[in-house]
Amino acid sequence: MNTITVSAPSNIALIKYMGKIEGSGNKPTNGSLSYTLENLRTFVRLTEISGDQDQWKPFVREDLTPLDLSEKGQQRFLKHFSFLKDKWGVQKNFLIESANNFPSDCGLASSASSFAALTLAAAEMFQKLNPQEWGTDKKYLSELSRQGSGSSCRSLYTPWALWQHEYAEPMALPFENLHHLVVIVEDSKKEVSSSEAHKLVTTSPRFEGRVERAEMRLRDLTTALRFDDWHIARQIVWDEFIDMHRLFETSTPSFTYMTDGSRKVLDECQKLWNKWQDGPLVTMDAGANVHLLFRNEQLKSFSDYRELFMKDFKVLAFEGIKGNVH
Ligand code: DP6
Repeated sequence: MNTITVSAPSNIALIKYMGKIEGSGNKPTNGSLSYTLENLRTFVRLTEISGDQDQWKPFVREDLTPLDLSEKGQQRFLKHFSFLKDKWGVQKNFLIESANNFPSDCGLASSASSFAALTLAAAEMFQKLNPQEWGTDKKYLSELSRQGSGSSCRSLYTPWALWQHEYAEPMALPFENLHHLVVIVEDSKKEVSSSEAHKLVTTSPRFEGRVERAEMRLRDLTTALRFDDWHIARQIVWDEFIDMHRLFETSTPSFTYMTDGSRKVLDECQKLWNKWQDGPLVTMDAGANVHLLFRNEQLKSFSDYRELFMKDFKVLAFEGIKGNVH
């Protein structure tokens, strides 16, 4: 049986992709920088089938949480797969099975890892069936993945990825092994998807100047990280997610992902930073959960924050990079 299994990680943006050029296949209005979350992965299994169309099913494996994809989500996934088949000129049909190694009810976005895993799985399978010169070129695969879901193009590199235009690229920066905490404030599905958010933010009066602000932070953050300036890096990362959330709040119609829980976690993080003049990088995506990234030597503080937030919330904790799971 012709079958393969491939996995890809998720990523968290410190400078956000928010706003895209309409009709461009998810080309962003500003550059973004992300840290790859090696421990949060989507697994995709492709199997050639004799049926007359591609099919999607949850991937059932003991260590995985089957993906609960809506009908719309399945169509989007199958559409990207069909786009990839066209690129390689493949006509055979496949069963696509996918699942995450993290709980599906924790409100963590999986579109970055899912679309990256689907693109990588298709590339591996199709290179066997109809090899193309560009078929193993990472930048080109990143560009293809971007067309499925923008943020997924950064998941092809680890630990840091920079995405400016067509594709993402690896970026050499210090702090290669961060510890990651996610404070799960809200575990229900979000009302406004990130794809919708990209459109809505363009109605905010604050969208004017957004590209310049994000680009300036991108330059400043890479410089801060290069010079080991965690303090400045933390301020820039904070400023950036707040800027994105303000765009949401000032759109027409306005919307928000912040909950009382998110605010409580953010307040606590500020207090602890003020007390110790040190702490994690703090960021939020288009959701209520709060992501914290700690330097390698902040392991003690990582477990203290974990203990603290576990009193009121569900917390996912990932100590460093555990290595690739297949
Ligand atoms: C807030 O990649 O989910 O997470 O391209 O429409 O699939 P589509 O959007 P998506 O947007 C992610 C937005 C974000 C910020 C980021 O990851 O950079």
